[in-house]
Amino acid sequence: MVAGQGGFAGSDLSTYAQALTASAVRNAITDPTPSNARARMAVATARDGQRFAGLIRNEDNFSVQMQSPDGTFHLLLKTDVEKLEYEPSPLMPTNYGEILTRQELDDLVGYLQSIVENAKPQPQKED
Ligand code: HEM
Repeated sequence: MVAGQGGFAGSDLSTYAQALTASAVRNAITDPTPSNARARMAVATARDGQRFAGLIRNEDNFSVQMQSPDGTFHLLLKTDVEKLEYEPSPLMPTNYGEILTRQELDDLVGYLQSIVENAKPQPQKED
């Protein structure tokens, strides 16, 4: 998501490039590694047979909160969950380094750097 537009599977990228070098931004695109459990996809099978797939947004000993790709939240009690399986690979495609040209990657990095300015709060004009 950038400036409120886009999807919400990944983090908001409006100010992502702010404190990073170009190569660090490029690495985040070509070699995505879930930074924490939030970014992991999981499939929960409830005791009544219902299945929920989504990103784990929060989890404790008693409950798990998942968000499906369409944005729906599922708040499940662990006592109602038969099985909770985590996807081993990150949700973000891992092959951008292969399917995008060097120029396209440069453009993406340049874009993420360029939007940082717009995301900063604009000073109010004095009358
Ligand atoms: C060219 C397209 C894309 C670009 C430029 C891009 C860029 C990025 C960047 C820079 C991050 C790192 C954010 C951070 O560490 O806070 C990120 C993370 C992520 N992206 Fe993408 N992404 C793209 C496509 C996708 C797609 C298609 C998906 C899912 C279907 C996706 C899902 C995610 C997720 C879940 C994360 C979070 C990983 C984490 O929190 O550690 N991305 N993306």
